[in-house]
Amino acid sequence: MMGRKTLLALLACFMSSAAVADGDATTGKTVFARTCQNCHAAEIGVNKVGPSLWNVVGRVPASVPDFAYSDAMKANKDAWSATALDAYLADPRGDIHGVKMFFKGLPEPKDRADVIAYLQTLK
Ligand code: HEC
Repeated sequence: MMGRKTLLALLACFMSSAAVADGDATTGKTVFARTCQNCHAAEIGVNKVGPSLWNVVGRVPASVPDFAYSDAMKANKDAWSATALDAYLADPRGDIHGVKMFFKGLPEPKDRADVIAYLQTLK
Protein backbone atom coordinates (compact mmCIF):
# COMPACT_ATOMS: atom_id res chain seq x y z
CA MET A 1 0.00 0.00 0.00
CA MET A 2 1.21 3.45 -0.84
CA GLY A 3 1.06 5.90 2.02
CA ARG A 4 -1.16 8.92 1.70
CA LYS A 5 1.87 11.21 1.77
CA THR A 6 3.54 9.36 -1.10
CA LEU A 7 0.36 9.50 -3.09
CA LEU A 8 -0.05 13.21 -2.49
CA ALA A 9 3.57 13.80 -3.47
CA LEU A 10 3.01 11.85 -6.68
CA LEU A 11 -0.11 13.83 -7.45
CA ALA A 12 1.76 17.04 -6.78
CA CYS A 13 4.30 16.07 -9.43
CA PHE A 14 1.58 15.74 -12.01
CA MET A 15 0.04 19.06 -11.14
CA SER A 16 2.08 21.16 -13.51
CA SER A 17 0.51 24.42 -12.46
CA ALA A 18 -0.53 25.96 -9.19
CA ALA A 19 -3.45 27.54 -11.05
CA VAL A 20 -5.38 24.29 -10.74
CA ALA A 21 -6.68 23.76 -7.23
CA ASP A 22 -5.85 20.55 -5.38
CA GLY A 23 -8.52 18.04 -6.16
CA ASP A 24 -9.89 15.10 -4.24
CA ALA A 25 -9.79 11.87 -6.25
CA THR A 26 -12.54 10.19 -4.25
CA THR A 27 -14.99 13.03 -4.89
CA GLY A 28 -13.68 13.14 -8.45
CA LYS A 29 -14.72 9.55 -8.97
CA THR A 30 -18.32 10.47 -8.16
CA VAL A 31 -18.12 13.49 -10.46
CA PHE A 32 -16.80 11.14 -13.16
CA ALA A 33 -19.61 8.63 -12.58
CA ARG A 34 -22.19 11.41 -12.74
CA THR A 35 -20.89 13.44 -15.67
CA CYS A 36 -18.36 11.55 -17.77
CA GLN A 37 -19.09 7.84 -17.54
CA ASN A 38 -21.94 7.82 -20.05
CA CYS A 39 -19.41 8.66 -22.71
CA HIS A 40 -16.03 7.63 -21.29
CA ALA A 41 -14.66 4.45 -19.74
CA ALA A 42 -11.87 4.56 -17.18
CA GLU A 43 -10.57 1.20 -18.35
CA ILE A 44 -7.81 0.78 -20.90
CA GLY A 45 -8.94 0.07 -24.46
CA VAL A 46 -12.66 0.73 -23.91
CA ASN A 47 -14.02 3.40 -26.22
CA LYS A 48 -17.62 4.55 -25.91
CA VAL A 49 -19.03 7.75 -27.42
CA GLY A 50 -15.73 9.23 -26.25
CA PRO A 51 -12.28 7.64 -26.04
CA SER A 52 -11.03 5.68 -23.00
CA LEU A 53 -9.67 8.07 -20.39
CA TRP A 54 -7.29 5.52 -18.93
CA ASN A 55 -3.90 7.19 -18.41
CA VAL A 56 -5.13 10.40 -20.06
CA VAL A 57 -3.12 12.74 -17.85
CA GLY A 58 0.12 13.54 -19.63
CA ARG A 59 -0.80 11.85 -22.88
CA VAL A 60 -0.89 13.47 -26.30
CA PRO A 61 -4.45 14.45 -27.29
CA ALA A 62 -6.24 12.26 -29.83
CA SER A 63 -3.83 9.36 -29.31
CA VAL A 64 -6.22 6.51 -28.46
CA PRO A 65 -6.05 4.03 -31.36
CA ASP A 66 -9.28 3.25 -33.19
CA PHE A 67 -11.11 6.34 -31.97
CA ALA A 68 -12.44 8.77 -34.59
CA TYR A 69 -11.44 12.14 -33.16
CA SER A 70 -12.48 15.50 -34.58
CA ASP A 71 -9.95 17.30 -36.76
CA ALA A 72 -9.71 19.98 -34.10
CA MET A 73 -8.71 17.44 -31.47
CA LYS A 74 -6.17 15.86 -33.83
CA ALA A 75 -4.67 19.30 -34.38
CA ASN A 76 -4.29 19.82 -30.62
CA LYS A 77 -0.67 19.06 -29.75
CA ASP A 78 -0.59 20.14 -26.10
CA ALA A 79 -0.29 17.11 -23.81
CA TRP A 80 -3.12 16.73 -21.30
CA SER A 81 -1.62 18.44 -18.27
CA ALA A 82 -3.87 19.28 -15.33
CA THR A 83 -3.98 22.85 -16.63
CA ALA A 84 -4.96 21.80 -20.16
CA LEU A 85 -7.65 19.47 -18.79
CA ASP A 86 -8.97 22.20 -16.54
CA ALA A 87 -9.35 24.58 -19.48
CA TYR A 88 -10.93 21.92 -21.70
CA LEU A 89 -13.41 20.73 -19.09
CA ALA A 90 -14.46 24.26 -18.21
CA ASP A 91 -15.77 24.70 -21.73
CA PRO A 92 -15.27 21.68 -24.01
CA ARG A 93 -17.16 23.26 -26.87
CA GLY A 94 -15.83 26.77 -26.62
CA ASP A 95 -12.15 26.45 -27.31
CA ILE A 96 -9.81 25.12 -29.97
CA HIS A 97 -10.69 21.52 -29.31
CA GLY A 98 -13.75 21.53 -31.51
CA VAL A 99 -17.27 20.51 -30.80
CA LYS A 100 -17.30 16.74 -30.94
CA MET A 101 -17.69 16.31 -27.18
CA PHE A 102 -21.36 17.19 -26.73
CA PHE A 103 -20.99 18.10 -23.14
CA LYS A 104 -21.51 21.51 -21.62
CA GLY A 105 -18.54 21.17 -19.31
CA LEU A 106 -17.97 21.49 -15.60
CA PRO A 107 -18.46 25.13 -14.57
CA GLU A 108 -17.37 24.52 -10.96
CA PRO A 109 -13.56 24.72 -10.53
CA LYS A 110 -13.83 22.31 -7.57
CA ASP A 111 -15.58 19.67 -9.73
CA ARG A 112 -12.85 20.02 -12.36
CA ALA A 113 -10.04 19.76 -9.82
CA ASP A 114 -11.64 16.66 -8.28
CA VAL A 115 -12.26 14.90 -11.58
CA ILE A 116 -8.70 15.69 -12.73
CA ALA A 117 -7.37 14.24 -9.45
CA TYR A 118 -9.38 11.12 -10.20
CA LEU A 119 -8.10 10.95 -13.80
CA GLN A 120 -4.58 11.08 -12.38
CA THR A 121 -5.25 7.80 -10.58
CA LEU A 122 -6.10 5.97 -13.83
CA LYS A 123 -2.87 4.25 -14.71
C1 HEC B 1 -21.75 13.33 -24.32
C2 HEC B 1 -20.54 12.55 -24.31
C3 HEC B 1 -19.35 13.04 -23.48
C4 HEC B 1 -19.34 13.46 -22.16
C5 HEC B 1 -20.52 13.59 -21.19
C6 HEC B 1 -17.96 13.72 -21.85
N1 HEC B 1 -17.16 13.50 -22.94
FE1 HEC B 1 -15.15 13.75 -23.05
N2 HEC B 1 -15.17 13.33 -25.05
C7 HEC B 1 -16.29 12.96 -25.76
C8 HEC B 1 -15.93 12.84 -27.18
C9 HEC B 1 -16.88 12.47 -28.33
C10 HEC B 1 -14.55 13.16 -27.27
C11 HEC B 1 -13.68 13.29 -28.54
C12 HEC B 1 -13.61 14.79 -28.87
C13 HEC B 1 -12.99 15.16 -30.21
O1 HEC B 1 -12.52 14.27 -30.95
O2 HEC B 1 -13.00 16.37 -30.51
C14 HEC B 1 -14.10 13.45 -25.90
C15 HEC B 1 -12.80 13.78 -25.57
C16 HEC B 1 -12.34 13.94 -24.27
C17 HEC B 1 -10.95 14.11 -23.90
C18 HEC B 1 -9.75 14.07 -24.85
C19 HEC B 1 -9.27 12.63 -24.90
C20 HEC B 1 -8.09 12.33 -25.76
O3 HEC B 1 -7.84 11.13 -25.99
O4 HEC B 1 -7.41 13.24 -26.25
C21 HEC B 1 -10.91 14.24 -22.53
C22 HEC B 1 -9.68 14.43 -21.68
C23 HEC B 1 -12.28 14.16 -22.07
N3 HEC B 1 -13.12 13.98 -23.14
C24 HEC B 1 -12.64 14.24 -20.74
C25 HEC B 1 -13.96 14.21 -20.28
C26 HEC B 1 -14.33 14.31 -18.88
C27 HEC B 1 -13.34 14.36 -17.72
C28 HEC B 1 -15.69 14.32 -18.84
C29 HEC B 1 -16.58 14.51 -17.61
C30 HEC B 1 -16.28 15.66 -16.78
C31 HEC B 1 -16.17 14.19 -20.20
N4 HEC B 1 -15.10 14.12 -21.05
C32 HEC B 1 -17.52 14.12 -20.59
C33 HEC B 1 -17.55 12.74 -25.25
C34 HEC B 1 -17.97 13.07 -23.96
